[in-house]
Amino acid sequence: MSAQWWRDAVIYQVYVRSFADSDGDGVGDLPGITSRLGHLRDLGVDALWVTPFYRSPQHDHGYDVADYLDVDPLFGSLEDADRLLDRAHELGLRVIVDLVPNHTSSEHPWFQAALAAPPGSPERARYLFRDSDDGPPNNWGSVFGGPAWTQVADGQWYLHLFDTTQPDLDWRNPEVPAMFEEVLRFWLDRGVDGFRIDVAHGLFKEESLRDQVLESDESASSVALTGDHAMIELKLRDEPMWDQPEVHDVYRRWHEILDEAGPDRMAVAETWTQTPESTAAFVRPDELDQTFNFAWLLAAWSAEAFATVITDTFAAVEPVGASPTWVLSNHDVVRHPSRYGGGPRGLARARAATMTMLALPGASYLYQGEELGLPEVDVAAEHRQDPAALRLGTPGRDGCRVPLPWSGEQAPYGFGPGSGQPWIPQPDDWASLTVAAQQADPGSTLSFYCRALSARREHARAAGDSVDLLDLGEDVLAFRRGPLTVVLNCGSRTVDLPEGEVLLASAALDSHTLPADTAVWLR
Ligand code: GLC
Ligand code: MG
Repeated sequence: MSAQWWRDAVIYQVYVRSFADSDGDGVGDLPGITSRLGHLRDLGVDALWVTPFYRSPQHDHGYDVADYLDVDPLFGSLEDADRLLDRAHELGLRVIVDLVPNHTSSEHPWFQAALAAPPGSPERARYLFRDSDDGPPNNWGSVFGGPAWTQVADGQWYLHLFDTTQPDLDWRNPEVPAMFEEVLRFWLDRGVDGFRIDVAHGLFKEESLRDQVLESDESASSVALTGDHAMIELKLRDEPMWDQPEVHDVYRRWHEILDEAGPDRMAVAETWTQTPESTAAFVRPDELDQTFNFAWLLAAWSAEAFATVITDTFAAVEPVGASPTWVLSNHDVVRHPSRYGGGPRGLARARAATMTMLALPGASYLYQGEELGLPEVDVAAEHRQDPAALRLGTPGRDGCRVPLPWSGEQAPYGFGPGSGQPWIPQPDDWASLTVAAQQADPGSTLSFYCRALSARREHARAAGDSVDLLDLGEDVLAFRRGPLTVVLNCGSRTVDLPEGEVLLASAALDSHTLPADTAVWLR
């Protein structure tokens, strides 16, 4: 594999709380991941991205970090992290860890010191504390609902673009970049292969902290996603809290740090920016390596929409020389079989979309459980834990975070050694969705993912970087990549296929035709 292994990798997202539990407390942990790495090797992915496992009070399930240099006891120890890295590397899997630089936990020693210190102190200057006599200092809304400001006992306010327990750091204070450089080096020294950078477009806010100018139909919140907004149309709006030009200097510095650690270390950024061009700015040659391309995930089930995403994606990344990325699901959005309507049709569409994505040049990011075709779960209100759900009063993101079913007939379906329900209850009809049940069934979604990833290694990786869209009718997405022809039927009528040997299909084909909601690779 080349030094820039990520350019055409398949990277599997492990949501640590929900992958595998080793100690029976109902919460996934690092030894749990290590014990199940064989599943990822058998699936045929190249790398895993592990969501935050650092010390954290878990108000946003780890995206609220109280100590960036230690493992939360809930998930294990630093030695467990080392063992996970070693075992993954033995199996030929790379490991990406999650870095959360936009905010700390309110329990981080820096924020505790800021609360104990007076207004105007150096301790407060690591965050964005402001005075205001008549309500919050500006009109910004938290991504999780409500105002982005909370008042402390002496009357000052602090900014939190997410939960009140996630105070935003002031990246104009040199102590902040210095701290994160140390964090990067710490994990690079322990052997991680890369970082996923949380809210990478957020670090700097317009220095004036002026009001956001809102159109009459816009609410005072921000473009970043909470699960329920998965289908939002991105439209240009005034965003003094996101995507400020100063942020790029940070990533130029991080590029140097990654380079010093070796040519095979990478960073992928979560950047919910407003245009493909502003996203591409994060992957200029001297900045980060990849950004998540959320365009396909946001697109409706439409050949035309998918074709536009493909064209726009290449147009954005080619000028900067970065590799495109593709993703259909993650821990913040409704799982794609459910987004596509749920039931057998939603699953058929999800398999077809996944297979189409896997044929494209660039990297694909998979989210744990999609290889099992798991649907979004309707989590009962009393079991909801996502701070976004609690603040907004919506279903939130718990429905895509239900612990994985591995084996057996009832909860916890082999997720852990216990016999009770895990931290989010699993549905009682998941026995047929377990890894064990699906391994035994060649028609299962798991068997399909294994075939698709193997076909990708065999036929797609070497098929070159250029993609030509073909016109096979208005409801059909079709493209050629080297010797491969890929056809996705988004319409309701069966389509005649062009000549070619069928390499892979998302469902059984009848003669040389492609039914609705199905995709095929031809050679
Ligand atoms: C990112 C994460 C999300 C988290 C938020 C705040 O969007 O993906 O899960 O809640 O950042 O850290
Ligand atoms: Mg556990």
